[in-house]
Amino acid sequence: MNIIIVKDYEEMSRKAAHLFVAQLLNKPNSVLGLATGSTPMGLYKELIRFYNEGMISFKSATAFNLDEYVGLEKEHPQSYWRFMQENFFTKVDLPVERQFIPSGVAEDITLESYNYDKKITSKGGIDLQVLGIGRNGHIGFNEPDLKFEARTHVVKLDEQTIEDNARFFKDISLVPTLAISMGVKTIMQSRSIILLASGKEKGEAIMKMLSGNITPELPASVLQLHPSVTAIIDLAAASMLDIAALEDLYQISMPS
Ligand code: F6R
Repeated sequence: MNIIIVKDYEEMSRKAAHLFVAQLLNKPNSVLGLATGSTPMGLYKELIRFYNEGMISFKSATAFNLDEYVGLEKEHPQSYWRFMQENFFTKVDLPVERQFIPSGVAEDITLESYNYDKKITSKGGIDLQVLGIGRNGHIGFNEPDLKFEARTHVVKLDEQTIEDNARFFKDISLVPTLAISMGVKTIMQSRSIILLASGKEKGEAIMKMLSGNITPELPASVLQLHPSVTAIIDLAAASMLDIAALEDLYQISMPS
């Protein structure tokens, strides 16, 4: 794993955008794995800026999102479909027919999950996947103690995840308790992964992800096994790391 420690959220977003730009310049028809939440918003802003400046185009690319709440219609203000429309898809030239987000209202969610993985495979697999991380170490909505072999599936959200995501809803009782999420296996099959973390509330999860055992108790720890992960972490999220000890295990760059 390559670890880039940066000053703040803005620098994290910029560096992540640079990796996406490089990916698209190398392979315009890349399959991109996208995330929602607060963490990647700056990345999307940067990518939209690069697109507006004519540096990159998404017209040949394909995108697969990590997850969606079960029970929320596409147009629901808090659906991840809506998040992606508002924050990214309507602002770049990525064709609508190549924007994929699992449906949280499919009649048969098990079939929807199975078909989602099949679709990813049929498009050649994910070239570059961006991930945020939950305070409990989740990636996608793979909460602690789920099997690493899981492909796209329905997950029961942790109390902590529901509490964290309540900030987007009028009331915590309105936060869905289930989601459909790419599984750890689906994520691990991506050719390259960028994990982003900003803020001191992510500090403990980042410390455990990098310094702890590889265990489903901390889903992001599985990334230690992936051959091509870049973790871009701001100083606040890196505040619990023992950099000197980690330098034996990882390539680490510090802010200039
Ligand atoms: C979102 C996702 C989640 C978030 C994580 C962090 O699609 O899969 O794993 O990345 O919950 O959320 P934020 O960025 O809001 O702190």
